[in-house]
Amino acid sequence: MLRGKEILLGVTGGIAAYKSVYLCRELTVRGANVHVVMTKNAMNFVTPLTFQTISGNPVTHRMFELFRGPEIGHVALADRAHALVVAPATANILGKVANGLADDFLSTMIMATRVPVLFAPAMNVVMWESAAVQDNVRRLKERGFAFVGPAEGELACGVKGKGKMADPLQIVEALEGVLTPDDLAGETVLVTAGPTLEPMDPVRFISNHSSGKMGYALARAAVRRGARVILISGPTSLPPPLNAEVIRVTTAREMREAVLTQAGRASVIVMAAAVCDWRPVAMASQKIKKRSGAPPSLELEPNPDILKELGRNKRPDQILVGFAAETHDMEKGARVKLAEKRLDAIVANDVTAPGSGFHVDTNEVVIFTASGERIGVPRMSKDRVADRILGLVAKLRRGSQKPSWEPEAERPEFWEEG
Ligand code: CTP
Repeated sequence: MLRGKEILLGVTGGIAAYKSVYLCRELTVRGANVHVVMTKNAMNFVTPLTFQTISGNPVTHRMFELFRGPEIGHVALADRAHALVVAPATANILGKVANGLADDFLSTMIMATRVPVLFAPAMNVVMWESAAVQDNVRRLKERGFAFVGPAEGELACGVKGKGKMADPLQIVEALEGVLTPDDLAGETVLVTAGPTLEPMDPVRFISNHSSGKMGYALARAAVRRGARVILISGPTSLPPPLNAEVIRVTTAREMREAVLTQAGRASVIVMAAAVCDWRPVAMASQKIKKRSGAPPSLELEPNPDILKELGRNKRPDQILVGFAAETHDMEKGARVKLAEKRLDAIVANDVTAPGSGFHVDTNEVVIFTASGERIGVPRMSKDRVADRILGLVAKLRRGSQKPSWEPEAERPEFWEEG
């Protein structure tokens, strides 16, 4: 998403400036061309040489240094960029921008740009909570400036509270959001992710290889596109996506309960979770001991098919997307699930193909829609696959007044089991 993008990174004078070096590196690694603009005070914390080395571009810190021919430095730089991120953003820079002051290169450039501007504030908790800063932040938000953080935690001044600069990876995520069109604004997207885990005793369970990476990528992509996102996640070790409501579950039955509770407010549901089809009939209350006799035989019973239930009770304007994890006859399996579960689209992947499926960061899928489209998505990062899927969802959502099958005449209460 950041590949080939011209990003301006404004660094102001706070101790969090050292974390901006890491941010600069993360942006560069993702293929962005980063131009760093430092304030005079920022240079008390980090040197321009550090940013120059990491970004590979000269660092700007003096107001009148970038005159090249007829170009005026701050205007030329501001015109070329796709986005501007200020990290850390001190109370001072927020105050200057909110009040129309432009007395150095950075504040002048912010005033001279039409590109999206993202602030990552960092300051002492008392300063952050002060009426002046809060007032400035409110005014900036009203004018369309984007914010990420600050986070809560132990601050450099030794106090605990809100004021820590957001983690650089979260800033990257927020920046990607700023650069993405908000074509899912106003939508509530419910995503499920990860495996379910079905216990047989307090220490053992059956499950599957799902890592949750595809579902989490979908949740992040939906946030980027401006949706309100509810992520219902089975056990994973992944960090929660920024700005998504995360509900953690363990078993298929818990996932069903959570999904059915939330589904009524979702306009889009994407079931990326690898739900276990069966669970042990009984769960021993104590650990089954090796010495207690012959190996136990595991009797299984079926779990509810959550997606099928959603399909049966779907509102005509709701978009329902499933996944088909296949190891053979992928296309046939996916088409059967698309029809049986009454989906708008299904994302099929061969989980045994190299660079596809569980644990890896890439995927290669084919999307089938209820209206007969077949969209091949070659191997790419799960983030990019997620974007393709949500691009399609946005398109389906725009045309969702026309359901692709006849709604049942007598629709039961939305979440009736059956
Ligand atoms: N799914 C579900 N509840 C289940 C099983 C699957 O909601 N108990 C959903 C998955 O989240 C996925 C879709 O149904 O979106 C297809 O899941 P998959 O495991 O590929 O297929 P199954 O329907 O379980 O059929 P099979 O295992 O026989 O391929």
